[in-house]
Amino acid sequence: MSMHPDCERIMLTEEQLRARVREVALQVDKDFADKRPLVVGILKGSIIFYADFIRCLSMPVELDFMVVSSYGSGTVSSGKLKIKKDLDKDIKGRDVIIVEDIIDSGFTLANLKALLLERGAASVKIVTLLNKAERREYDIAPDYNCFDIENEFVIGYGLDYDEQYRHLPYIGILKPSVYEK
Ligand code: IMP
Ligand code: MG
Repeated sequence: MSMHPDCERIMLTEEQLRARVREVALQVDKDFADKRPLVVGILKGSIIFYADFIRCLSMPVELDFMVVSSYGSGTVSSGKLKIKKDLDKDIKGRDVIIVEDIIDSGFTLANLKALLLERGAASVKIVTLLNKAERREYDIAPDYNCFDIENEFVIGYGLDYDEQYRHLPYIGILKPSVYEK
């Protein structure tokens, strides 16, 4: 497949994503072997990662989703966490695994983890595809992370810029000219 013209370069190929997502999922599978976790996907960014991740699990899992936002259409994090779609399930006493696309400032996951614990979850673990550690402003770290990345704006494999590019099968770096327009 050829690279999208708005991409500066491909950071992670389909093959790299597949191999590493599988490796991390198998580790989670091992760690939760005797549990029945609720796997919570954060929409929409995590959809492709989520789909690949859960298909590597052999433990019994239940799926649920949330839509939260702390972002407008720009490339910097702002504001307060908004819950646009809440969980369907009661999480009291449940082991929860949050599946997220990327941790940037940490605002989203710091707030979300606190909220789910407040609701009585037995445990809340965080699985993320990407981690921009350099950008962290909130005290939160992923329990499982597929890739540490530099401070560059990335798209594809679920991640968007202004709702575009989520369908690209690889992770690419967005050309600054696209958002500087
Ligand atoms: P945080 O709350 O600052 O950690 O931001 C997390 C959210 O910001 C992610 O779920 C993404 O939706 C978005 N985000 C942060 N960096 C990027 C990026 O490089 N590409 C696309 N979305 C990003
Ligand atoms: Mg997101």
